[in-house]
Amino acid sequence: MDTSICEGVYWVGCVDWTVRDFHGFNTERGATYNSYLVCDEKVALIDTVKEPFAQELLGKVAAHVELGKIDFVICNHAEPDHAGALARVMAAMPNAKLVCNRKCQASLARHFDTSQWAFHLVETGESLSLGGRSLQFINTPMVHWPESMFTYLPEHKLLFSMDAFGQHYASSLRFDDQVPLPTVMDEAKAYYANILMPLGRQISKTLDQVNDLEVDIVAPSHGVIWRSHVGDILSAYSDWAAFRPAAAARVVVMYDTMWESTAQMARALVQGVTNQGVEAVLLYVRQTSLTRIATEALDAGAFAIGSPTLNAGMMPMMGAVLTYLKGLRPAGDRTAVAFGSSGWGRGGPEAVHEILETFKWKMLREPIKAQYRPTKDTLAECRKVGQDLAIRVQEVAAP
Ligand code: FEO
Repeated sequence: MDTSICEGVYWVGCVDWTVRDFHGFNTERGATYNSYLVCDEKVALIDTVKEPFAQELLGKVAAHVELGKIDFVICNHAEPDHAGALARVMAAMPNAKLVCNRKCQASLARHFDTSQWAFHLVETGESLSLGGRSLQFINTPMVHWPESMFTYLPEHKLLFSMDAFGQHYASSLRFDDQVPLPTVMDEAKAYYANILMPLGRQISKTLDQVNDLEVDIVAPSHGVIWRSHVGDILSAYSDWAAFRPAAAARVVVMYDTMWESTAQMARALVQGVTNQGVEAVLLYVRQTSLTRIATEALDAGAFAIGSPTLNAGMMPMMGAVLTYLKGLRPAGDRTAVAFGSSGWGRGGPEAVHEILETFKWKMLREPIKAQYRPTKDTLAECRKVGQDLAIRVQEVAAP
């Protein structure tokens, strides 16, 4: 495995090939916890790994340098997928100082007994000399936790970016030019949508900070290292953080169904969208992971969301989807409509509409409703609404 990033800088992380549920994130392609070793007159380990991989990490570090000769352990982020191994790492590296910011120190003290650790606190703008080279620190609060920071190695124009620009992607290959770019970009999009979407404002600020640096290599804490497509991932982040209308000319139709009535309405909505020449994505929420739904929602300009009535409310899986999406706060100029069938009462489409009103999206109209079965007229109404949604996203996407 190629573990050399550049002269004296090595990947010593771990690949979690089998994980499929990362605190609710559906990691279909597994995950990696990236840790890096910077060897100079002094030696720094940048971030650790999930606790079960601690021994593997220590073995990889020891292959480069005796553990007693590690001078610094940099903690960019206190979340356990990167800091989980710290207790064992600090015990195995008795001469290492733990380098982090003040918020991180406080967070680590909530996770571990840190009373015996020697801390070296840093804040934005400070640097740490390793001899020939130095590490610079940039606080990036809420990307992903309050204590998060980036570490920059100016001599190699190398940015250790922690969660930002990461992907849940297990591979024996380490670099963006060794793997299929569309696959890794899709995983980066899924990561952004499911982890970072609510933090768009902070991401935009962070991108401004990155733009002030010369960056040839971006080494995140998850997935492959960006060295050939740095511009692509920075540009994608800029689009996702700002919800650029040009990227929004697509309509997501998602639904649950009981006896296929709401499914028929969903398909009619899709017809209306595509008749207008706009891309539609149809998602049956009971057979689609929350992770995929959020990923599809990230850059969609309009939504038709349908549920039949069950017990005077919406179907439970749709409730889970809307709760999840609401937490992710997909902002921007987006339009939505609710739809669904009911029998003898009201409930499903109305409940979807009420939740969508709290999203601060534009509601195109009152819910489209059918009683038991959608009539020809109802399906025609769905096609018309699909067309209206398509026209709406075309207007928003127009320069
Ligand atoms: Fe990969 Fe926020 O931890």
